Amino acid sequence: MFGSRNLVESESGSVFLLGTLSEVHKIAPVLKLPRLARDGYWLRAAKIRGYDSFVIAGANDRGALYGVFALLSKIAREQEVSHIDDVEQPYAPLRWINQWDNLDGSIERGYGGRSIFFAGGTVRDDLTRAGQYARLLASLGINGCTINNVNADPRVFRSDFISQIKRIADIFRPWGVRISIAADLSAPKALGDLDTFDPLDPKVAEWWKKKVDEIYREIPDFGGFTVKADSEGQPGPSTYGRTQADAANVFARALKPHGGVVFYRAFVYNHHLDWRNLKNDRAKAAYDNFHPLDGQFDDNVIIQIKNGPIDFQVREPASPLFAGLHHTNEAIELQITQEYTGQQRQLCFLVPMWKEALDFDMRIDNQQTPVKALVAGRVFHRPTGGFAGVANVGMDPSWLGNSLAMANLYGFGRLAWNPDLSAKSIIEEWTRLTFGDDPQVVHTIDDMQLHSWHIYENYTGPLGAGTLTNITGNHYDPAPESAERNGWGQWIRADHEGIGMDRTIATGTGFIGQYPPAVQKIYEPLSSCPDKLLLFFHHVPYTYVLHCGKTVIQYFYDSHYEGAEQAAGLAEQWKTLQGHVDEARFSEISAMLEYQAREAIVWRDTICNWIYQLCGIADQKGRVGMQARQ
Ligand code: GCU
Repeated sequence: MFGSRNLVESESGSVFLLGTLSEVHKIAPVLKLPRLARDGYWLRAAKIRGYDSFVIAGANDRGALYGVFALLSKIAREQEVSHIDDVEQPYAPLRWINQWDNLDGSIERGYGGRSIFFAGGTVRDDLTRAGQYARLLASLGINGCTINNVNADPRVFRSDFISQIKRIADIFRPWGVRISIAADLSAPKALGDLDTFDPLDPKVAEWWKKKVDEIYREIPDFGGFTVKADSEGQPGPSTYGRTQADAANVFARALKPHGGVVFYRAFVYNHHLDWRNLKNDRAKAAYDNFHPLDGQFDDNVIIQIKNGPIDFQVREPASPLFAGLHHTNEAIELQITQEYTGQQRQLCFLVPMWKEALDFDMRIDNQQTPVKALVAGRVFHRPTGGFAGVANVGMDPSWLGNSLAMANLYGFGRLAWNPDLSAKSIIEEWTRLTFGDDPQVVHTIDDMQLHSWHIYENYTGPLGAGTLTNITGNHYDPAPESAERNGWGQWIRADHEGIGMDRTIATGTGFIGQYPPAVQKIYEPLSSCPDKLLLFFHHVPYTYVLHCGKTVIQYFYDSHYEGAEQAAGLAEQWKTLQGHVDEARFSEISAMLEYQAREAIVWRDTICNWIYQLCGIADQKGRVGMQARQ
């Protein structure tokens, strides 16, 4: 009716002016346009050609799309939009999802069913769910997605497979989500093309260049690679005495002419560490491996750093590597799939945990330098940087395995867009969008989600001890002994006298020395180390008195009993929503929370008995070890 694809009238009669800034300017030159960063957008209520209209202007097409989703979200949450004038800019340029999907259709650490991308060694015929996933990711401002497991299968580089991946890329393209591949450094050799994968061998560099050119012929907007090397059995540059920078750059140089990037993971460590050596410390590995290489990575390499120095435990300090790279791009890797936090069979909303990492101030040169600013490249004026979230959605109708777990994927996307948002505002948005605006529903679900991480921590691994789960098996059941006396390095160092890893500079592994001096001053002295991370940094007797006034052992007993009670409380809270949420989701979540309450008791009793048997100190409240004392 308006003679322009940018002017649209909805069925209800509202007029939308939608497009990039320059398109909007052509149609409505009277509007004073804001400046927008890449992918940013502007929402504005305005009169255009006499009509009351909404302007949705993007810095680019992707920004315009994000603007549409933002306006829809506001309308769905019944926000007042008639006078809207909002400019939104992404905090960081790269906001990527990682999927750990295997080509056979299984998903490593996936708890939401089979892969939406692969089945039986190839790309699925029916990619309907993949298309819906791309839309879902776009609605959160995600602009990249790595589709296969970081423990990568070299077969993805076979020419017949690349044309399969093209089908996924074609489906993702309209949603502005660039797809990328997890790459195996040894692919040139593993596929039988060369007898080496030495990244400094010119033949190898040429192989990667040709392979990348081939990919871009099929997928012109290909995003790049995610790389796990020299880690947990994955091949790496150490085979040829080369550095991680040598490996990262061979990919980067092949990708550069096409605008692609390499997310090179800092999760490089030796999983055959000698546990008898008290100076050994897996937590030191990322910094030890990457800090000396700072400045040697090409400018389209991003070092992807897990939030904590170990491996997605229920609580860890922020990785010191965030502060250790001043001339290198960084991204934070957050795990949406709840590998160590209940595997989507228990409620654990992770946004409060991620906020602690993102807001943590590294005090580089005694300046305010929070992790979020470092990864966005804002502190050292890096060309790029951002966020990578390990989602592992699957074919399950709820995507992640239960209807409350999606709050974590939503929360990741919102934080990647704006890490200054509070956990409370994020969950409030999510609950309204997912369950409607009944105040009782919103209040109850928000409250349950916001407390769930701390509840999970209470009945699993408090005081920074690690999750205390079965680390050599399923990463789910309580099994603290599995962490000790093996090469994996997730030691708790619990014996008859005391518990905790001594990571001090003075007497321990020296890990604390990897932080800037102002942070060292917090963690090194017992007097200032926060209780919640005490056992991550210090080995103390069970009778050590915490800042909160309790002994370590009493805190263990109390937190486990409190956590189990709180878990039972979650099930009770949910029951108050009967009749307020649809029956299907009501009973699904009821069953899950009742199961969780029982699991919490198993955790409580296992951990309390384990620690009592180690130290022989009974619970002051008579719940653990009384028979032994009588
Ligand atoms: C964890 C996880 C592995 C995964 C690894 C990684 O160790 O258990 O399945 O491969 O992290 O992040 O590479």
